[in-house]
Parts: sequence; structure tokens; C-alpha cells
Amino acid sequence: MKILGIESSCDETAASVVEVDEVNGGNKTLSNVISSQISIHQKYGGVIPELAAREHVLNILPVINEALSLAKVNPNNIDLLGVTTGPGLITSLISGIETARSLAAVWNKPIVGVNHIAGHIYSGFLEQKTAPQFPLIILTVSGGHTNLVFMKNWEDFEVIGETLDDAAGEAFDKGAKMMNLAYPGGPAISQAANDFIVSGKSSSLEFPRPLINKGLNFSFSGLKTSLLYRLQKDKNWSKRISEYAFAYQEAIVDVLVAKVLTAIKKYQPQTVMLSGGVSANFRLRESLRSKLSEKHPGLTLLIPDFSFTTDNAAMIALAAYYAHQNNQSKAWQNLKVKVNFSL
Ligand code: KG4
Ligand code: ZN
Repeated sequence: MKILGIESSCDETAASVVEVDEVNGGNKTLSNVISSQISIHQKYGGVIPELAAREHVLNILPVINEALSLAKVNPNNIDLLGVTTGPGLITSLISGIETARSLAAVWNKPIVGVNHIAGHIYSGFLEQKTAPQFPLIILTVSGGHTNLVFMKNWEDFEVIGETLDDAAGEAFDKGAKMMNLAYPGGPAISQAANDFIVSGKSSSLEFPRPLINKGLNFSFSGLKTSLLYRLQKDKNWSKRISEYAFAYQEAIVDVLVAKVLTAIKKYQPQTVMLSGGVSANFRLRESLRSKLSEKHPGLTLLIPDFSFTTDNAAMIALAAYYAHQNNQSKAWQNLKVKVNFSL
């Protein structure tokens, strides 16, 4: 079965064709086109919704055309459409949804409205040859969300932990802004922190690890404030940016990894997965990998390929396939935007 996925919930316009092998449960990404708006929003230090919406309108059809042509398929070969219906920026979501609805109507195909976070969860299953071993614990860390999910089977999500304030990606983005680093903050902090690691020096800075031993929920706003106060007190902070980036990143990574270990103890999964934009973070990947091989060597760890960590439409196409199997596809007339779509 071939699925066309469409994603436009924030500042990436994306389309992808994914083919699912319905006999073995594996899948292949035939194309994965992403038009990023980072360079447009960079000078403002964050996403400007009106600018994002205008760019989506300009890019959506060329991006879909390219995804079809790179996959060497025409509309007749597409069996299903999947589009992100939320959560996200309403004016961004609408471009993808209205385009997908029109295509579903003209091509006469079924369509599924996909939850963006479910999409990130399915990103870990992309390019796999077989189905994963359930149950799973999934840590989804993005610019807007920080969730721990227990997944007993396809389409069976239980949110077992979430952030009480800022998302992990937001902590990276806002922290980077305080340190005058570029947007998006995650890659900028990660790069600066890496410079410190490579220097071989040891750091005297220590940031709080909020809620680290308290249940499965997260909180990052206190950590952000702590960075602000430290920078205000230190006249020479700009000479120590890489050290600040390193210590700040260590605090975020330590909390994320500790929560996954707590969830493993409580839920006894067979597989652990990391997903979302922050899962591109090298230190987070390495720390989780080494803690799991030390404490839970029998567990399988799934981490998506870098190309599937930040927003993309391949994850939306695969999520749409499983939702369709679960009878969640709709006639195009019934597909609506769901800004606060919860899992
Ligand atoms: O999943 P995503 O592309 O969009 C949302 O759904 O929010 O995630 C974007 C977030 C941003 O906050 C960005 O700073 C963060 O992912 N990010 C990273 C890295 N690459 C992207 N955070 C830490 N380290 C990275 N290497
Ligand atoms: Zn995302």
C-alpha cells in the first residue's frame, strides 16, 4: 500500500510517499521532501505564524509534486492520504489540510487526519523491516511537546508523563536565545556544548535537574530561569558560552534519561524509543544508549534516522496507514483542523 503524507503544522512544509509491506509489516520511504523555513524565521529568533502560513501556501503544491515524482508514482498509485490535523499553528495546519482535502476529493481516495505527536512516535518505525516488539515506552521530545507514552499495540497510546510547563525543545530554544546563540536553539547549544567536550576541560557549572526523582512528569521552566540568573550574575559569561551550553544541555539530558529509566521500571517494556526534534541531540542519544546497555541490555532501543527526527511527512504517512487499519480514515468532507489534538 502506498500512502502520501502531508505535514505543515509549524515551519516545515513536507510531503512523502511511504510504501507499507502488508505481508511482513515493514515499510520503505520512497520520497521525503522537506522545505524548511528556518532561514526566514531565524532573524526573528522564533517562528512568526503569519510568515509561516504564507510560505506553506507557496510551497505545498511544489513539495507534493516533488514527493510524487521522486517516488516515481502518480496519483493513481496512491492508496491513502494522511495529513497532520493538529496540534500546531492553526494557519500553518490549514494549508496542509485544505490541500489534502482537495486532493482526496479530486483523486477519490480515503484520507486520515494524523496527530502530529503520533507522527513523531511512528518516525521510529520508518524503514524497519518488521514490526516492533510491544509494549513500548516512547520519549517524544520536540519544540512543543515532551511526552512519555506507553504503547501496548498499534494505535494504543497511553500518555504516562508530560511537561508541566515548557517542552524540552523550548528549553533549548529559549536557553540559546539567552546565550545569543542562533535559532533553532537545540542544534546551536549542541554544537557549542560539543566544542566544550572536545576541549577536554571540566566544568564548574551545575544546573538544577527539576523533578528528576519525582514521578514521570517534566518541568523545564525553573532550569531556564536558573540559566537566566547565572548569566545575569556572571560578567564574563560570553567568554564561557560553550561551557554554559554544555552544563545546561547536561541538565536537560540527565532529566530526560532518568525519566525513561523510571518508566522502564514501572512499565517493563520490550522496546524503548526516542523521537521528536530533540532526539537529534547527540548527547541524549549516547546517554540513553549507554544507560540502557548498562542497566537493561535485553531491551531494544529504536532511534529514528536523523532525517526523520525533526518534522517530516514520512512519519505522518506511516501513522496514517495504521490509523486507516484501525478504521480511522474519513471522507474528505469530515476532515477538520484540531489545534489542540491530544494523543
Ligand atoms: O519535532 P520538531 O522539528 O518540531 C516540533 O514538533 O516542535 O522539533 C523542533 C525542536 C526545536 O526546539 C529544536 O531546537 C530541537 O527540536 N532540536 C534539537 C536538536 N535539533 C533540533 N534539540 C537539541 N539538540 C538538537 N540537535
Ligand atoms: Zn514535530
